[in-house]
Amino acid sequence: QALYVGVDLGGTAIKVGLCNAAGDLLRLFEGPTQTEQGTETILNNIAAYVKELVPPGTPEWEAVAGVGIGIAGFLDIPNGIIQFSANLPFRDVPAKQIMEEKLGKPVKINNDANVAALGEAWGGAGRGVDNCVCYTLGTGVGGGIILNGRLIEGFSGMAGELGHMSVVPDLEAIQCGCGQMGCLETVSSATGIIRMAKDAVERGDKTSLAYVENIMAKEVFDAAKDGDEAAQRIVSRAAYYLGKSMAAIAVVVNPQRFILGGGVSKAGDYLFDQIREVFVKLTPEVASRGVDIVAAELGNNAGIVGAAGLFLRA
Ligand code: BGC
Ligand code: NA
Ligand code: ZN
Repeated sequence: QALYVGVDLGGTAIKVGLCNAAGDLLRLFEGPTQTEQGTETILNNIAAYVKELVPPGTPEWEAVAGVGIGIAGFLDIPNGIIQFSANLPFRDVPAKQIMEEKLGKPVKINNDANVAALGEAWGGAGRGVDNCVCYTLGTGVGGGIILNGRLIEGFSGMAGELGHMSVVPDLEAIQCGCGQMGCLETVSSATGIIRMAKDAVERGDKTSLAYVENIMAKEVFDAAKDGDEAAQRIVSRAAYYLGKSMAAIAVVVNPQRFILGGGVSKAGDYLFDQIREVFVKLTPEVASRGVDIVAAELGNNAGIVGAAGLFLRA
């Protein structure tokens, strides 16, 4: 029976998991990315952790039929190249080829949010829904678009980069890690929320937010829920642009469901209700009817399962 390895390459940790052909996660291993050590170290770490998960020479290793890797960044998927990443040091790195040489196994690479969307579609909040759009709200804002049951990659692999939809009006826009102005990621990621909180404190807004050096997005949500008006304005802004981006997506590809994952989505109904309100307000009634906005179900393992599944169902 063939086995598959899924890899979730993040800015701080690399998580690897072993899956069977049914897509069940059998076990996990995790180690530091060591981003500051550069590309070569990161790719060596992936290989080392995969071999830690499944030791070469064992019957299990022989059974591994492929290694799928989810990566935060703009990828040339058909050619297996990481073109650019805002949070990792990759610039035009032929990662698929390098990893195949290191592992001696077939390797597929895909975007981290794309594989999370596949994971959710197969075994999470997108089960049974053929048309769904997923957002991952974390350090960045990622996206994955599944239409008629298939992941949309676009002509060069960059489809679904929802975090870089330009949504903020020019006069209020700030620069994104991608170089553009006014991206959704600048206001609706954890990083964006933290930046807005720091701005509010520095401006002298009346707020309970403190310890701005180490502030976390969760503290902003907690303060907002407790009635802090500055924090409420920040959450409304994050929610507004998410809802606005969904209104655009709804009339372009008509998904049945939006699925929101990542740390920020843990804010729950307090956030989701505001997003729904904006979405309904900005979308033609016939295009919002029957569309729901729900939380992801698989949590941190969606990406691993989806990456392993690149060999099974993509
Ligand atoms: C990157 C995406 C990634 C997302 C979430 C964005 O900044 O451009 O490729 O999916 O962050 O990690
Ligand atoms: Na994507
Ligand atoms: Zn951007």
